Amino acid sequence: MDTSTPHTAARDDGLDAFDNAPIGVFDSGYGGLTVMREIMAALPEEDIVYVGDSARCPYGPRDLDEVRSFVRQICRVLVGRGCKLIVIACNTATAAGLEAAQREFSVPVIGVVEPGARAAAMTTRNRRVGVVATRATVDSNAYADAIRHIDAGITVFSSAAPRFVEIAELGIRMAEGPFESYLSEASKVYIRPEFEEIAREYLEPLRRCDIDTLVLGCTHYPLLKALIGGVVGRDVTLISSAEETCRDVAEILRRRRAFARPGNVAAYEFLTTGDDVAEFAQFGGRVLNMDLARARHLDLPPL
Ligand code: DGL
Repeated sequence: MDTSTPHTAARDDGLDAFDNAPIGVFDSGYGGLTVMREIMAALPEEDIVYVGDSARCPYGPRDLDEVRSFVRQICRVLVGRGCKLIVIACNTATAAGLEAAQREFSVPVIGVVEPGARAAAMTTRNRRVGVVATRATVDSNAYADAIRHIDAGITVFSSAAPRFVEIAELGIRMAEGPFESYLSEASKVYIRPEFEEIAREYLEPLRRCDIDTLVLGCTHYPLLKALIGGVVGRDVTLISSAEETCRDVAEILRRRRAFARPGNVAAYEFLTTGDDVAEFAQFGGRVLNMDLARARHLDLPPL
């Protein structure tokens, strides 16, 4: 990751404008933690409030209208907690609710689709890009539209991978040790025949389309990088929107002079809508490689 953040640049101009309010990040479960990891690494002085909507995970098979109402509800919680910027760290939720949230709230709200699309459009050489995502994201056409908006000459091939979220979450439960160790290619967690067979079913059709770039269009999928990469092969570049999204966060804060005050010791708050807070803390802690002992339950009224 590029850690020469614009953070420093903002402070060199002699103007003292800071904002210690937290950044809000949310997802249907653990997937958005892959985005939060990047933000924590690149902007280590920023407070973050993370909401994992585990009670309603997965979002992928749901109707976009329903997911949109979840997005608005969670954004309301984050705005109520004083967040200065909200990251919808879920592709399905971005596809369903980004526009509605941007219209409703006065703080900037960004999603993960446009950053991933931008990275894919810049990466592809043969202008044939694959997208693997949840059913809802594929059906929304969000990636195809976003990629073609950047470069109309790119052909986009999409494949829905309904079981990948379940496999990613299962892997977090089965894994031992820190996230990095089970992300590595040597990982035995995700590289097993039953998962490989499922991955081939989703990815073979894309491989046959001669893509040179594949967007991991769900924030859970970076966990499956070794599994997915093994099936599509080394010639296909995998794009995860986490880093790109994080760059957008930094750029917005820089332009708005809204970085946390230098020296701020970042505070992280973890909220889960699920009943099993201990489980969320244990498995979420694996993705972030830190102790989430202070995770708490967030009660969201049914819509
Ligand atoms: N992580 C979410 C995404 O990026 C979806 C997972 C789910 O289906 O809930 O699309």
